This record gives sequence, structure tokens and C-alpha cells, in this order.
Amino acid sequence: MTVERVGIVGAGQMGAGIAEVCARAHVDVLVYEQTRELTAAGRNRILRSLDRGVSSGKITERERENAACRLRFTFDLADFADRQLVVEAVLEDEKIKTDIFTELDAVVTDPGAVLASNTSSIPITTLGSATTSPNRIVGLHFFNPVPVLPLVELVTTDATSETVADRAEQFAGDVLGKQVVRSADRSGFVVNALLVPYLLSAIRMVESGFATKEDVDKATVLGLAHPMGPLALADLIGLDTVKAIADSMYTEFAEPLFAPPPLLLQMVGAGQVGKKTGIGFYRYENGRVAK
Ligand code: 3HC
Repeated sequence: MTVERVGIVGAGQMGAGIAEVCARAHVDVLVYEQTRELTAAGRNRILRSLDRGVSSGKITERERENAACRLRFTFDLADFADRQLVVEAVLEDEKIKTDIFTELDAVVTDPGAVLASNTSSIPITTLGSATTSPNRIVGLHFFNPVPVLPLVELVTTDATSETVADRAEQFAGDVLGKQVVRSADRSGFVVNALLVPYLLSAIRMVESGFATKEDVDKATVLGLAHPMGPLALADLIGLDTVKAIADSMYTEFAEPLFAPPPLLLQMVGAGQVGKKTGIGFYRYENGRVAK
């Protein structure tokens, strides 16, 4: 059965992006946020991104209006009762996420509904164990910026039912038009298991004076044809998120290459977590690196 009604928990950077791609794919979208301020910020984030889609010719004015009309917001997770698929995209905090899954499990009535997390660091098995129906739990891991990057990782556990996994894959692939790869429930899944050691190595290079941040980024853009360098990318992802993934991978694999370097810890401690706070390895004004 095709998914027509989705719920998104959290309207931050990732939640807003996922809500936007769902609304653009003609799906009815209900977004949960905790406060009026966070709701307004999330709505503005989506509308700005839709505007960008219009100005770059990717969508028409009419498609923008239709997508905006498909988005509704709520402060009450109980409103998710009729949702066929929910994606949780809140902070990488295990307690907050498990509480949300316990509540969603009680609220969402469809026994075949997909309860998905966009987590990049918390085991899907842990989230499933906070529910009475771990067969409904999967990871649906999107990439930032969500409207631009075509990949979704589908993470299943031993408890996930094949019907739920297929429904999630059909939604991400056929409805949202993303390419789907499947991963086992191992820390980092496929992409972050490869990406995070690379980002941490770049941070260690800067920390030790091996090269400047500008030169590390320039080297990978010009020498490896990456769209952006690792320090700019860490700022885009959020240094708090990079640290959370590194911590999770270090806990699971106990490999020194996953240990977060002191410079990363200091920057996160100082609240300099990247583009979303206006300062990380670079300074940002209006979403662009300040000159
Ligand atoms: N929303 C919508 N569209 C956006 C966008 C956004 N936030 N950001 C960029 N775009 C679109 C622009 O409209 C533009 O479209 P056009 O080519 O049709 O005009 C296109 O993307 C390119 O944007 P820009 O010209 O502004 O800038 P760049 O060419 O420098 O591209 C970038 C910016 C898309 C961010 C590109 O540098 C890139 O793809 N970088 C790599 C990002 C990446 O690796 N992400 C994965 C991170 S890992 C992750 O998310 C997982 C998590 O668990 C950590």
C-alpha cells in the first residue's frame, strides 16, 4: 500500500529537508515541533528552500504553493495516529529518541506503519527496544542537503519485518525518488563509516599544523574532485553531529581512528558547531561563508 500520509518529528536542518521532499512528492505531511519558535524556524527553513527551488528553475511557483499547502504543523504527537510512515529527526540524544519511539508506538495505530529514525549514530535496535513493535522500526537515513542529495540508507534490524522494510524502501525510492542502499544496524551505517574517519583525519591535520583548513579543503576539492572540503562539510553536517557519530563508532568498534580529536571537542564545547550556529571552522553570514 502506497504511503500517502507521513509524520516528521523535528523541523531542524534534517527534519525540514525531509518534510520538504515529502511535500514536493505530493505526500500529506504533518510536522511535529516542540515550540512556536521552533515551528516558525522550521517552516521558514522549508519555505526558503522551496523559494530556492523556484529561483533555480527546479520547481514552478505552482509546485511551490502546492508543496507548502501539503505541510501542516503540530505540537502534539497524538496527532500522528493516522500516519502511515513517520520519520524521527530530532537531536542525536538517545533518551529523547527512545521516548519519542515509545510514544509513537502507542499513538500510530496502523500495525504495518513504518516508524523510522533519521539517526546517524544511535542503534536502530535500541530505538526498537523502546517499543512494543520493533518489527515496525527502521532507519531511513537522509543526507544533507536533503533536497539535493539523492541517497537514502535503509537500516533494518533482526526484528524489522520484511513488509515494513519493503514499504520503507518503496516510499524512499518510488515516492521520494531517492536511490536506496540497505545497511545492517552497525554504527555509521555505510556512508558515515567511511566519511567520519576522513573528517576526523582532516580535523587532526589542522589541529597538528600539518596544513591550514583552507588548504585541506582546497586540496580535496581540486585534487579529489569532491564538491566541498572535509572542514566545510563538517560545518555543514554540524560538528555536534560529527562528534555524536564519532562517539558512537568509537564505542562500537574501539578503533582510535574513530576517537573525536580534542579540537573537535573544544569547538563543540564552545558552541562553534558550524553553519547552523554561524561559526565552525568557517564563519557564515546568510548561510554562506563570510568573506
Ligand atoms: N536546499 C535546496 N537546494 C539546495 C540547497 C538546499 N539546502 N543547497 C544547495 N542547493 C541546490 C542549489 O539550489 C543548486 O541547484 P542548481 O544547481 O539547480 O542551481 C545546487 O544545489 C548547488 O548549490 P550551490 O550552487 O549553492 O552550491 P554548490 O554547488 O557549492 O553545492 C552542495 C552545495 C549541494 C552542498 C554541494 O557542495 C555538495 O553536495 N556538498 C556535499 C554535501 C555532502 O556530502 N552531504 C552529505 C553529508 S553526510 C550526511 O548528511 C549524513 C549525516 O548523517 C552526517
